[in-house]
Amino acid sequence: MDEHLGRLLRTMAPAHDETQTAMVEHTMAEGFPTVGPESGGVLRLLARLVDARDVFEFGSGFGYSAAWFARGMNGGRVVLTEYDDEELALAREFLDGAYDVEFAFESGDAMAAVERYDGPFDVVLLDHEGARYPPALARVREKLRPGGVIVADNVAAGPVDPETLVVMLDTEEDPLVSRSEPWDVDTTTEGIASYLDLVRNDPALETVLLPVGKGLAVSVRVE
Ligand SMILES: C[S@@+](CC[C@H](N)C(=O)[O-])C[C@H]1O[C@@H](n2cnc3c(N)ncnc32)[C@H](O)[C@@H]1O
Repeated sequence: MDEHLGRLLRTMAPAHDETQTAMVEHTMAEGFPTVGPESGGVLRLLARLVDARDVFEFGSGFGYSAAWFARGMNGGRVVLTEYDDEELALAREFLDGAYDVEFAFESGDAMAAVERYDGPFDVVLLDHEGARYPPALARVREKLRPGGVIVADNVAAGPVDPETLVVMLDTEEDPLVSRSEPWDVDTTTEGIASYLDLVRNDPALETVLLPVGKGLAVSVRVE
């Protein structure tokens, strides 16, 4: 991205509240990957725009993205899922009582946790493993209410290889199917490419890719 545009986006990112300021100290100490304030501002905006009451996250860490959702909600519930029990315990410490929102803390595999919730979800965040975005979409697609939004993080940077993504997705320019030599693609990039291809071809979803943070794919369910 253009350097000045990148700086402008960072400069315009919304400020952290008190809870998030304490979280950021933890991020800096541990180097834990969060969505960051630019993407966090988008999560808050989306929650507010759809009047979110029921939010589900795949991959919550210590609750930073959940805090952004909470800031855009008037009541309702955010479900956090996390493999790492230490991170989840921290999320409880940070979030309990900090917002006017109920939090559910699901330890273990998000792919199993989502089966325990019927929805309908207003917003879903995918921020766990890129390779598992496609099966996560399959599990929540019918649980997302019409008008609801599914957001996938890390679709343009971070753990993915953006150059490979372009080749895989821009079929007019360089169709992957026509390549004769073996194509070495890591599983995260392959998962993200397959996810983006699924959402752009799904008639029930309208999708845009926002070049914010590490890249957000935002899809709204239209039917
Ligand atoms: C990028 S971090 C999440 C950051 C968080 N959304 C935020 O912005 O504050 C990804 C987290 O997902 C967790 N994770 C990965 N795969 C998971 C799975 N299948 N089920 C639950 N947690 C998972 C990892 O342990 C890691 O803490």
